[in-house]
Amino acid sequence: MRVHWFLPTGGDARDVLPTAPDAHPRAPDHGYLAQVAMACDRLGYDAMLTPCGTGCEDAWLATASLIPLTRRIRFLVAFRPALLTPTLAAQMASTHQRLSGGRMLVNIVTGAEAAELARFGVHDDKDTRYAQTAEFLQVMRGAWSREPFDFDGRFYRVAGATTREVPDPVPEIYFGGASDAAERVAAEHVDVYLAWGEPPAMVRERVQRVRSLAAAAGRTLRLGIRFHVIARPTAAEAWAFADRLLTGMDAEAIAAAQHDFAATQSVGQRRMAELHGGDPGRLVVHPNVWAGFGLVRGGVGTGLVGSYEEVAERIAEYHDLGFEELILSGYPHLEEAYWFGEGVMPILREAGLLPPLDAPGSPVFSFR
Ligand SMILES: Cc1cc2nc3c(=O)[nH]c(=O)nc-3n(C[C@H](O)[C@H](O)[C@H](O)COP(=O)(O)O)c2cc1C
Repeated sequence: MRVHWFLPTGGDARDVLPTAPDAHPRAPDHGYLAQVAMACDRLGYDAMLTPCGTGCEDAWLATASLIPLTRRIRFLVAFRPALLTPTLAAQMASTHQRLSGGRMLVNIVTGAEAAELARFGVHDDKDTRYAQTAEFLQVMRGAWSREPFDFDGRFYRVAGATTREVPDPVPEIYFGGASDAAERVAAEHVDVYLAWGEPPAMVRERVQRVRSLAAAAGRTLRLGIRFHVIARPTAAEAWAFADRLLTGMDAEAIAAAQHDFAATQSVGQRRMAELHGGDPGRLVVHPNVWAGFGLVRGGVGTGLVGSYEEVAERIAEYHDLGFEELILSGYPHLEEAYWFGEGVMPILREAGLLPPLDAPGSPVFSFR
């Protein structure tokens, strides 16, 4: 399996809501992002998912600034196809790949919320945008091929697309989206299909559907799932922390978020919101799967909560379902990266689900 962490380019806090009384919000300045990336680099995470949107810093620039500070961790850079030409994106990714020594991956975000897209001057409906994404991916891959690439489609007419050098390796393409159109684009064009953390009963059907759509297109793809996490030595400690996060969510903020979710144009977001319906009494949606994060925040709303062993067991369950990649985050991202990295990763390594750490640290002595 590959386990990734999240780079909090929108900021971080000790609470889900940065306005909670004990949140101690942290700005996403370079020093803090460097701390998180450097921690993940040594803990053995595979890549940092870096989001895109007006609520966060730009993912290309933020990750590029972290290249010299990290040794092996990769950067999963999210961006929206509608905002740049596919040849330019191919060039940027190709440059990132050379500057980082082969550590770049791309996450394609078609986007769902009209208000957010309007900020960028994008007004096409979602089906149109997914159709554009499909063409974009063909041209971007074409520009990474050795031969100048021609394309004449509905959105792009490109002659001789190329980059200075073929990126090495060619960046793997990740992609999320739960609508029918998203599943079709994934099946035909992407390397890794991402889902937000739904309980097994809810996500199983999608796994099968995306796989059979891919098979019909003569392809295979890997599957990834995104969760928050609270892992502690004991279950009681983990649930106590979940309860503490809950006390930082006031009723007004919960109601405001449900109001937003009711108007969402994202199928994935609707599925997240339906898990709890805004009811703090309906948050355990599967053993060790807690929907509390989603009471007040969009995007992934679920977390794996439990003892180190329980969280590892749950990950094994998702692995058995077909998920080979796991993208995690937690509040705050620095401390939770350590709890999971030092507590759960050794169990996953022991079980053969994760490769061994490539560089064991030098011995640590106690002073006597
Ligand atoms: C793991 C994951 C990460 C995502 N990251 C972002 C992001 O950084 N920015 C964003 O606007 N949307 C993000 N999305 C949303 C999707 O890319 C997609 O635009 C949205 O889900 C489309 O709606 P649909 O579910 O109706 O297909 C992400 C989705 C997933 C599953």
